[in-house]
Amino acid sequence: MTPKILYGGDYNPEQWPEEVWDADHRLFTGAGVDTLTVGVFSWSLTQPAEDTYDFTVLDRVLDRAAAEGRGVCLATGTAALPPWLAKKYPEVNRTDFEGRRHRYGQRHNFCPSSPAYRRLATGMAGRLAERYAEHPALLAWHVNNEYGGACYCDLCATAFRGWLRERHGTLDAVNDAWWTTFWSHRYTDWDQIEPPSALTEHWRGPDHTAFQGITLDYQRFMTDALLGCFTAEKEAIRVHDEDTPVTTNFMGAYRPLDYHRWAPHLDFASWDSYPPLDAPPTRPALGHDLMRGLKDGAPFWLMEQTPSTTACRDVNPLRRPGELRIATWQAVAHGADAALYFQLRASRGACEKYHGAVIGHAGRDDTRVFREVAALGRELAELGDVTLGARTPSRTALLFDWDSWWALEISDGPSRLVRYQDAVHAYYRAAREAGADVDVVPVTVDLTPYDVVLAPVLHLVKGDLAERLEAVARRGGSVLATFLSARSDEHDRAFLTDVPGPLSPLLGIRVDEWDARPEDVVQPITIGDFRCEARLLFEIVQPRGAEPVGTYGTDFYAGTPAVTRHAFGAGEGWYVATALDQRGVDHVVRRVLARHDLIGPYAGHATVETATRVAPDGTRLLFLLNHAADPAHLTAHTTATDLLTGKRVERGEPLSLDPLGVAVLRAE
Ligand code: GLA
Ligand code: ZN
Repeated sequence: MTPKILYGGDYNPEQWPEEVWDADHRLFTGAGVDTLTVGVFSWSLTQPAEDTYDFTVLDRVLDRAAAEGRGVCLATGTAALPPWLAKKYPEVNRTDFEGRRHRYGQRHNFCPSSPAYRRLATGMAGRLAERYAEHPALLAWHVNNEYGGACYCDLCATAFRGWLRERHGTLDAVNDAWWTTFWSHRYTDWDQIEPPSALTEHWRGPDHTAFQGITLDYQRFMTDALLGCFTAEKEAIRVHDEDTPVTTNFMGAYRPLDYHRWAPHLDFASWDSYPPLDAPPTRPALGHDLMRGLKDGAPFWLMEQTPSTTACRDVNPLRRPGELRIATWQAVAHGADAALYFQLRASRGACEKYHGAVIGHAGRDDTRVFREVAALGRELAELGDVTLGARTPSRTALLFDWDSWWALEISDGPSRLVRYQDAVHAYYRAAREAGADVDVVPVTVDLTPYDVVLAPVLHLVKGDLAERLEAVARRGGSVLATFLSARSDEHDRAFLTDVPGPLSPLLGIRVDEWDARPEDVVQPITIGDFRCEARLLFEIVQPRGAEPVGTYGTDFYAGTPAVTRHAFGAGEGWYVATALDQRGVDHVVRRVLARHDLIGPYAGHATVETATRVAPDGTRLLFLLNHAADPAHLTAHTTATDLLTGKRVERGEPLSLDPLGVAVLRAE
């Protein structure tokens, strides 16, 4: 296979007689499909009984792929249990948050602490690796599928206690971390500790807990327990296959699992992008950048997207003509080296029979969707290998922290209306629409490459982060934090200092009070000549060295600062004390970026997205994506060649993008 962006998707030929496979491969050739994700849900076929394995169908699927010159991303298939397994070992079925032990059904619902599951899943992964490690079609291993959710069974309770012993060492340390003297919870024996569920610490559901420390630790434990399933399968693969890369498909900003804890164990990141159709394009972009940030900026795979519609939502709108193309180029612009679909052929029955597919039930190649898929396949083939391995040269970092996300959203007070993803997205969107490339990174990342660090709603400040943020500002960089940042330590225990805790010296402020109000209460905000609105939470800021930049307009804190800037070393610490509307966030973020000359050349065009990638040979690519239904008329900022059309654009000359149009400019 000549190196290029991989193109294809989930393929389940085991659902079909072999005549259909002939048609599939003919159509794949027509669509430029070179990569098949195989075996994601084939466990009941490959192991019909505990002691019976049958790889005849899978053999034929892989052999056929190889004969056709296509590569295979081979799944271990352990995400959906075969019925015999659940019947024979009921422990593999999860116990849910309400304490109900489930029976056989559905998928993605095995107990991560079940020894039977672990043994059988790793057994399958090992056998597959033994059989196919040397197969000419094998490109990558796809372990399980969309790990997620949580289990609350007795096996998990025992495993949780073991995890706590390792993390905390002593019960005294646990009692201290969880602040258990509150409500008379001092534990005197490990066995007294229960998983936090509807039967124990929670009321009104998973976000309402009496002890955030317990719930936080359970989320970390569950992340690690599921990760243990992944690493066990990976080890089983590695016994037989030393070097084929191993991944599992993530779900972007998926709250239940802290993917930063997983990232070191993957050989490359991959994810499934299903943005709601009415979401702004910065939503899937945030997912891409978060996934790129998992492996230190290395390219990732777009493992799944729909070519047309989803099926699982109440209402499943169709991707309009051109939307699939721009979404795919957007993924490439943000670092994808593979663009795969769910799914290649539509399932005939069961709950995904209406899910969009490259090949529909009628098997036609003259549908609009097939034609768009095939046209995109040709474009990707023509582009060749120029983007492979390319990196994003970001000078702006946005800190993304699952612990902060969890702590914020499981806390009583000050406001349940403040949502982590919304706040993060607002700042991400502002920076992206101003034309900055943004790395979305864990708080442990090396901050030295960045001029600007955005830390929206960074509720917990852990380790030496405060010092590292100070270092960014000291050497001339800008750090921006917002309301509800730096409130608590890693166990969600409040800092015994002024708010914002360890960030106070950098930000030069003190906060004693905050006012949470319903969504319809609006604070007018004045920032010089600029006016915007704020909602949800209003922190009352006392400058301690910082200068007020914006002020509240009403109530008893009218005239006090809502936005501040603090000179720190050669740089600045900014604080935004309230949830500004998007215009307000844009205004503040642009001021921060402008100081570092990070406003992009097309920042004046609201619908035009730009993204940069630098190839391993130094080739600099600028992606231009026009997300509007109207053409965009720009003035080229550089002389370049558009790799999609071969046309030259001259610096200072007009450059037009079609509605939903894309250009990939290689600067000269
Ligand atoms: C997920 C799963 C797929 C399929 C799609 C449908 O991403 O991984 O198996 O169910 O959703 O959108
Ligand atoms: Zn369990």
